[in-house]
Amino acid sequence: MLVSAKEMLTKARAGHYAVGQFNINNLEWTKAILLTAQENNSPVILGVSEGAAKYMTGYKTVAAMVKAMIEELNITVPVALHLDHGSYEGALKAMEAGFSSIMFDGSHYPIDENIAKTKEMVRLTSEKGLSLEAEVGSIGGEEDGVVGAGEIADPNECKAIADLGVTMLAAGIGNIHGKYPENWQGLNFEALEKINQATGEMPLVLHGGTGIPEDMIKKAISLGVSKINVNTECQLAFQEATRKYIEEGKDLQGKGFDPRKLLNPGFEAIKATVKEKMELFGSINKA
Ligand code: 13P
Repeated sequence: MLVSAKEMLTKARAGHYAVGQFNINNLEWTKAILLTAQENNSPVILGVSEGAAKYMTGYKTVAAMVKAMIEELNITVPVALHLDHGSYEGALKAMEAGFSSIMFDGSHYPIDENIAKTKEMVRLTSEKGLSLEAEVGSIGGEEDGVVGAGEIADPNECKAIADLGVTMLAAGIGNIHGKYPENWQGLNFEALEKINQATGEMPLVLHGGTGIPEDMIKKAISLGVSKINVNTECQLAFQEATRKYIEEGKDLQGKGFDPRKLLNPGFEAIKATVKEKMELFGSINKA
């Protein structure tokens, strides 16, 4: 069932768990994540960066694939199709194509401009009944060419954006896209606590879910994080399983070169990673 992310996140916030956003790249990713959500009776958010949408030939292709797959696979758990780190133009295109949820990332603008543009997005998304994620204080690291310096969000700025009526808020608290460096200081819980207090019941979003230790994930959920984004970890799982298959020479045995066989270990590895995260985030049996 393709839905906005509003209800699933309101329930997650009230129930003290988080819904996973898993980014998709192609058919295998989408199928693996949808099936795992259904098997575990968990709500799920499919994240699509602008780069990934372009790779899959455009927002329309992605929306059509996801809608058709939900129907063909009889997926009954709530699924949101969410634009990840959208620009203003990207958000308009994704809405038009049928995405059910939008992230407008205005964190690189001065706060007044971020507020003005996010306000306009609130108007556009609410007209269509879509959920909206905004961002304050950038996420560090690089994702699909989008580079963030990793600033800690200001709680007053978070409140100003939350008060516009967004569905969920991503706030920088020392989190980074991609692998965490050896000397990473960890999540800034003092900042998260202040942001949580300033924004009331707003579901908070933790980007850069790859490689955050379990205890930090649990603490973040206890402080209002209701959505956690995971991208790199599924890529690494897919890569490791595919490498193993080829290094063991399985592609050279029988019809091991058949793409359906060649891509299967990576597909299963994504499923296992997604299940592990759903268990950690507490979203199993919450559909
Ligand atoms: P990771 O790639 O670090 O898991 O981050 C995912 C993310 O935040 C998507 O926006």
